[in-house]
Amino acid sequence: MESSMVVEVKKEELNVVGKPVNRIDAVSKVTGTAKYAADYAFPNMLYGKVVYADRPHARILKVDISEAEKVNGVAVVLTAKDVPGQNRIGGAVPDQPVIADDKVRYVGDCVALIAAESRRIAEEAAKKVKVEYEDLPAVFNPIDALKEDAPKIHDQGNLLTYYKIRKGNVDDGFKDADVVIEREYKTQIVDQAYLEPDASVAVPIGDGLLIYSSTQHPFTVRSIVARATGLPMSKVRVVQATLGGGFGGKSVTSGLVAARAAILALKTSRPVKLVYTREDVMRERYKRHPFILKYKVGAKKDGSLVAMEIKFYADAGAYSESSPFVLFRSTVQCTGPYEVPNVKLDAYMVYTNNTYSGAMRGFGSPQVNFAVESLMDELAKELGMDPLDLRLKNAFKNGSTTATGQVLDNHTVSIRQVLQKIAEMSNWYEKRKELGHDTGRYRRGIGLACSYRGVSLGGEGADYGGALVTVNEDGSVSVTSGIAENGQGAKTVMSQIVAEVLGIPYEYVYFIDTDTGFSPDSGMTVASRGTIIGGGAAKNAAMIIRDRMAGVASELFNVPKEDIEFKDGFVFSKTNPKNRISFKELASVCVQKKISMTASGFFSLPDVHWDPETGEGIAYVTYVYSANVAEVTVDTETGEVKVNKVYAVHDPGRVVNPKTARGQVYGGVVMAMGMALKEDFNVVDGYPQTLNFDKYKLVRANEIPEIEVAFIENPDPFGPFGAKSLGEPATEIGAPAIINAIDHAINVRIRDLPATPDKILKALKK
Ligand code: MOS
Repeated sequence: MESSMVVEVKKEELNVVGKPVNRIDAVSKVTGTAKYAADYAFPNMLYGKVVYADRPHARILKVDISEAEKVNGVAVVLTAKDVPGQNRIGGAVPDQPVIADDKVRYVGDCVALIAAESRRIAEEAAKKVKVEYEDLPAVFNPIDALKEDAPKIHDQGNLLTYYKIRKGNVDDGFKDADVVIEREYKTQIVDQAYLEPDASVAVPIGDGLLIYSSTQHPFTVRSIVARATGLPMSKVRVVQATLGGGFGGKSVTSGLVAARAAILALKTSRPVKLVYTREDVMRERYKRHPFILKYKVGAKKDGSLVAMEIKFYADAGAYSESSPFVLFRSTVQCTGPYEVPNVKLDAYMVYTNNTYSGAMRGFGSPQVNFAVESLMDELAKELGMDPLDLRLKNAFKNGSTTATGQVLDNHTVSIRQVLQKIAEMSNWYEKRKELGHDTGRYRRGIGLACSYRGVSLGGEGADYGGALVTVNEDGSVSVTSGIAENGQGAKTVMSQIVAEVLGIPYEYVYFIDTDTGFSPDSGMTVASRGTIIGGGAAKNAAMIIRDRMAGVASELFNVPKEDIEFKDGFVFSKTNPKNRISFKELASVCVQKKISMTASGFFSLPDVHWDPETGEGIAYVTYVYSANVAEVTVDTETGEVKVNKVYAVHDPGRVVNPKTARGQVYGGVVMAMGMALKEDFNVVDGYPQTLNFDKYKLVRANEIPEIEVAFIENPDPFGPFGAKSLGEPATEIGAPAIINAIDHAINVRIRDLPATPDKILKALKK
């Protein structure tokens, strides 16, 4: 009821929301006052070190720590028996040990923990831990891992999750098709490549622990530390340190890093700092799932899709992390933003002995979008149609039904608007004719991809968030939330929303870093939900305070509360604006009048129901729509691809901050270029081949093309001021746009990522 007060506001009437204000954390980051987890130091502090398994699958017979303990300066060496609480954690299934006990399932398992007076001593001692193993047969491919006789990685078998969709009847559908094509696509393992390696500092204080953590989810860290140490959550206080990147990678298992530091701290009663090296991060931490995607699609001559039969085999690696939820998103979005009357999907998420997989920006969509959007181009070619026309022929409209049977009727389905906008911006039809005919060494092409994406968690889990807003007696405003700052600009957006509601300049507001000691639990800051959930909670909290302050002002001016307006730092009577007081003065009056000036706001999305047995139901409350166009030049002598320009159009509902929103898109496009052309976390027989950024190739600054961004804003009924999501849409379609552009340039279809120069040269020779 309260939320309708402000949501109807027109864009022109907004004063802070929609404005390109500077990031609230910009100055602290560029001047170096921002503190990252590794920057924290305490007297008497020890340094932690993880000892890793060096086998992909083996039974642990004995861990001999005697030599390591003798190293001068070692405070303690711990093995699985020293874990005081539960030695199993996990985002979906508690299947992952804090310290491996019975066996190791990949080379990144931890077999012992060390705390020492210096990092160097800890590293030296780590080399002296001797483990006796009995090697077990291992499996490195999800299809092999599903075979009857495959070695079992976990007792319950290797199939972690299976989802299916049965919509209509695909056999009947294919009978109606004029054209049927079948294709197989593969995506690689991609590292999140956050610049700041994982870190936690655990400090025993009183009966509890204070932890500074490099994490996206302080509350998840708290719950994992509580579980692993046996402490109640109330005695574990986790403060989110400034985050140097996460991109999904500092999700549930940031808790592992913190739990290890915590156990060492509890055993020694001393502060312990555990900072990973890049090699530790690459070896241990989960990456983006590699998928094998098999698509069969049927269409009529005019391009209308009649059936899709799909199989996904996704490699979860050794542990579950958030894999079942990733597969859920892949399942729901399996057809892309197209109406397909008959859909059959079988999706398998499978354990292997590879480095495990988990959340990475996109979360199950980049893989599926790569396949569907490549497939649409391959089908367009078969039909002799323009790829944009084929998409427009089938794209969702208001009232369309998704693969999972959801009717899209509660928001503006803007995929067509988005496609039309990007066609104009990129001059699509002319460029498509003009490019694609070069015959010399350098050949140019242009490619397109689009998507729809479920906002926030949907069927993945409970979708709620909280924020605490305090108006101080000087009129300055403190805000905090469990929705955390992951570099995406969450603090800035929540602060803008609070300033908007209270009618004050943005500069009055300051955001206090997320701290489980007092910030309200808001679930995880994932799924591009920061703005919609955190912003929603911040707005509701600010409205409660505004209402209390309006009550005081109405007494002062002797007018009804409804007559009170908050604007530009003043509070006044709408009917007689001479009756006015500055916001700052009113704050002080309210404190004198013993009004509670702290409010807790809560926001949740309506329940959704999705039935995994039938694959039908409401998967997400609302969706966002996006498109990318890429222009490339392929060097046919070296196989190198240069991305010349990328166009990006998104409908995130309402853009709360155009500057940070564009930043999300720039970063997303660059990340997608890495997936398309370069990044490949190559694991051979369970052993990663790229343990640092010398071998793991990222996009370099000089390779970043011009990126032209446009937003279409169809305010959403659920989000604060109409805002939805942007972070992940920004990166989920760049790869297929680039791959489609390569095909346009040289008539070569790359179906397994990345499109390295070697692969392109090989394909050109065929
Ligand atoms: Mo994310 S990949 O939902 O942190």
